[in-house]
Amino acid sequence: MPRLHLDHNATTPLRPEARAVFLRELDRLGGNPSSVHASGRAARVVLDLAREQTAAALGVHEDEIVFTSGGTESIHLAVLGCLRAAPSGLGLVTTQVEHSAGLGAAELAEAAGRPVVRMGVDAAGRLELDELRRRHAGDLALVSIQTANNEVGTVHPVPRIVELLRARPDRPLFHTDAVQALGRVPLRLGESGVDLASFSAHKLGGPLGVGILYRRKGVRLAPLFQGGGQEAGLRPGTENVPAIAAAACAVELAVAETTPQAASWRALTAELWHQLHLRIPDVRLNGPAIDADDRLPNTLNVSLPSTDACSSRASTSKDSRSAPAPHARADRSNLRTFCSRWAARATTRARVCGSRSVERRVEKMSTTRWRSCRESGTTRAKRASSTTLAPST
Ligand SMILES: Cc1ncc(COP(=O)(O)O)c(C=O)c1O
Repeated sequence: MPRLHLDHNATTPLRPEARAVFLRELDRLGGNPSSVHASGRAARVVLDLAREQTAAALGVHEDEIVFTSGGTESIHLAVLGCLRAAPSGLGLVTTQVEHSAGLGAAELAEAAGRPVVRMGVDAAGRLELDELRRRHAGDLALVSIQTANNEVGTVHPVPRIVELLRARPDRPLFHTDAVQALGRVPLRLGESGVDLASFSAHKLGGPLGVGILYRRKGVRLAPLFQGGGQEAGLRPGTENVPAIAAAACAVELAVAETTPQAASWRALTAELWHQLHLRIPDVRLNGPAIDADDRLPNTLNVSLPSTDACSSRASTSKDSRSAPAPHARADRSNLRTFCSRWAARATTRARVCGSRSVERRVEKMSTTRWRSCRESGTTRAKRASSTTLAPST
């Protein structure tokens, strides 16, 4: 039976265009982009072009782009780098539902003596924004809130957050973890008023191990490492030029395709939800309503009846983020089985009914985003076995 990769919130397949760029530069380049000799200069040209391409796709200036090793590092550089550059005593406001990278950065900030407030969310994963007006008047350096939640798919209202922060007398900087948002919802970074934003290439068809940090011009950051002064001194360490070039290609394509892709994912997600609901009437949808504007178009998170583990994965409380218990793993594996069965039935139904629109949609599902993995072998089997409906990322 063909396997469906439904876990694009964990990682996406490499785009063929990004793969071609990666292999081309891997074969062609041999230099260190900081070297002054010819091979170094050749690598520098490719790195500069990748920075320009990324900046253009995001609508910002190339000096505002810092390449890192991934979303996690970008978030740490934004949060800890900002706090280290700020006067001591100024704190951080973040949320209880950040990705573990954001939660971890907040813990490190707290361990370093910074006051940290973690805002809660309601049952749909929405923030009580008025808290931003009330909390910590006069003593904040940074507010860090994800653009979109990786578990239940709630999209937070970044323009409203920026507006609220601008009205505060202490005018804290604003960082957003936009790892799940880029390529899935339109982002107008340059005009957004956001000071810092984190991205990860492997969430949008780029290679693993490349992160992007947007740092608005003039925002002060202290580097987390000391070293060779790369990335304007903010992220020392020799850049992985072929992977960065591939990441830039993926970012450009993902941004250009966001609107049509989002519409198609939204239809597929709604179809999957309706199919689940048809077969399991008391299945529960977590996060905003299926057709709500503030739901990621590609993300579906459900609780199945009598499966505590599924409900707890979807819970937004801090405790639910810890490692799943063995019984939880068993329930998630049932969910995987169900999901593959659903996919198989959907294909059959499409054929039996001869419904061209369903057939086209199922076809699309298995050939594009929710790609059919027809591979075999241990590594691939392992990858496929990690497929979950509610991505654990
Ligand atoms: C919202 C969010 N932030 C950060 C990360 C971490 O990104 P990376 O895997 O590139 O370190 C992830 C990855 O799952 C994520 O979903």
